Amino acid sequence: CGIVGYIGPKQAQGILVEGLRKLEYRGYDSAGLAVYNGETLGVCKAEGRLSELERRLSRQSLPGQLGIGHTRWATHGKPSDENAHPHMDMAQRFAVVHNGIIENYLELKEELLAKGCSFRSETDTEVVAHLLADQWDGDLVSTVRKAVRRMRGAYALAIISEFEPDKLVAVRLASPLIVGVGDGENFIASDIPAILEHTRDFYVLEDGEMAVITRDDVRLMKTDGEPVERETLRVDWDIVTAEKGGYDHFMLKEIHEQPRAIRDTLTGRVKGGQADLSREIALSPEELREIERIHFVACGTAYHAGLVGKYVIEELVRIPVEVDVASEYRYRNPILTPRTLVVVVSQSGETADTLAALREAKKAGSRVLAITNVVGSTVAREADDVFITQAGPEIAVASTKAYTSQLIAIYLLGLYLAWIRGTRSEAELAEVVKHLEGLPELAERTLQLEGAVRLLAAEIAKKEDLFYIGRGLDYAVALEGSLKLKEITYIHSEAYTAGELKHGTLALIEEGVPVIALATQTALYDKMVSNIEEVKARGARVLGIALEGDEELHKLADEVLTIPRTLSLLTPVLTVIPLQLLAYHACVARGYDVDKPRNLAKSVTVE
Ligand code: G6P
Repeated sequence: CGIVGYIGPKQAQGILVEGLRKLEYRGYDSAGLAVYNGETLGVCKAEGRLSELERRLSRQSLPGQLGIGHTRWATHGKPSDENAHPHMDMAQRFAVVHNGIIENYLELKEELLAKGCSFRSETDTEVVAHLLADQWDGDLVSTVRKAVRRMRGAYALAIISEFEPDKLVAVRLASPLIVGVGDGENFIASDIPAILEHTRDFYVLEDGEMAVITRDDVRLMKTDGEPVERETLRVDWDIVTAEKGGYDHFMLKEIHEQPRAIRDTLTGRVKGGQADLSREIALSPEELREIERIHFVACGTAYHAGLVGKYVIEELVRIPVEVDVASEYRYRNPILTPRTLVVVVSQSGETADTLAALREAKKAGSRVLAITNVVGSTVAREADDVFITQAGPEIAVASTKAYTSQLIAIYLLGLYLAWIRGTRSEAELAEVVKHLEGLPELAERTLQLEGAVRLLAAEIAKKEDLFYIGRGLDYAVALEGSLKLKEITYIHSEAYTAGELKHGTLALIEEGVPVIALATQTALYDKMVSNIEEVKARGARVLGIALEGDEELHKLADEVLTIPRTLSLLTPVLTVIPLQLLAYHACVARGYDVDKPRNLAKSVTVE
């Protein structure tokens, strides 16, 4: 879910709606606002997209200069007008928006019902509003603190009250929340892009902290009242990169930003022809030499980046690498020692499962390196070492430029470890670095496939099932290509290691079934060709992804897209691009909402 809040001299409604538009990627099944109009709290909420809320606001606007807003991704209670936030107490004196889960809400609800409260929604959030009214002691901050003491779970809250309309109160326990500092006005939001057009100076709230915000002042404290002193953080993201900039959708813009994102992620991390992460990783060369194993832990697309990491690090550094999805890792009692380096990969840096895995690893005494795209995110703050990818804000739910930037971070990590540990000669490593630096230009050339991909996508859009196959690094990319397609086109697809097909899945291949075959790994090429023969012999319609100059595949596959040649180790950065474009154009051809696919959210801050 996404939260925004405003206090200042301007009309709040427009600022809140614009903020919510930038947060819609966090959930979009309903939205709502509460604004103080000088006497009472006015509320407007609507099931559906933000546009539905705007339609209602155009009939009945909410005047006032203090307000909070919310865009929802349902956890408790279906999407509906009633379940949309903000929620209020019976006398409508308090309005609350919430991200996360109040775990003991049933218990609190029963207690409040027994006291005569009546509930309008099925949400866990509504109990917060009633609890505030129940605990009201004449002082908003102390009432909020008392209510928070009763609540268990993981949440971020924004609260306003007609009793004290000169302030906005924000509380963070495990769901992200930032305070934007303006001139005579202040803001809160779940994420930076929501308020980037108003300010670049932020406080990031930490777990167990709250902020009391007036027009001219921001006071941070622990929820037990102890004051907190903190510097503001300055974000230099260009506002243009947080806007669509002429593209039809954020996803397409983000796909096209990849050459820039790759270049920026490399900047400052290559010195004297070698990868140098000594600024990111505080471990000494001796400590780095002592690492015995590496675990990549992440969710979704970031997990797929971790799979590439396994191949890359094992190849370059010869350390055993495991890759886990975070929601499994934390509950499987992983073998962690102080000599395990746990690399958590997260675009947002706020994914609840990934964060829990990070904490698990730290508790076990392992060193944690975070690869994340967001400065000041929870993952960035809690990890021992942080590599910030320079993808810039990623808005589309389906991740693209964050993935390729994560790959760059992983290559740099592998190269740096190999250099320090002497597993490869300096000359060999310098050769890889040189090719890495050539990737922005090759990515630019790969993007020129778009016209051809669009034509193929029109065909794919008519299918209901398809397969992606590949070997080695191509398999890791096949998984990501398949995920992109599922996420936004709702076409069922599966990715298989090409050599494993014959052990089961080959039974599904029949006349006309589309198979996307990745054949960019030179050492595995002949094996891959045999696997393509196997599916062709069963009638599959094959789209091959190969290296430029490949003649053989043209004879075998029905269609072929070629990517520029680079080292086999580095091809994932390029191979994924036609697959991203394919998913994008198939989605457009099917007429679905590219940037906001059904049932998903960009940042999942609940377990
Ligand atoms: C959500 C998004 C995915 C993303 C995953 C991990 O499920 O829809 O696109 O890959 O979370 O997000 P993170 O921010 O941790 O990389």
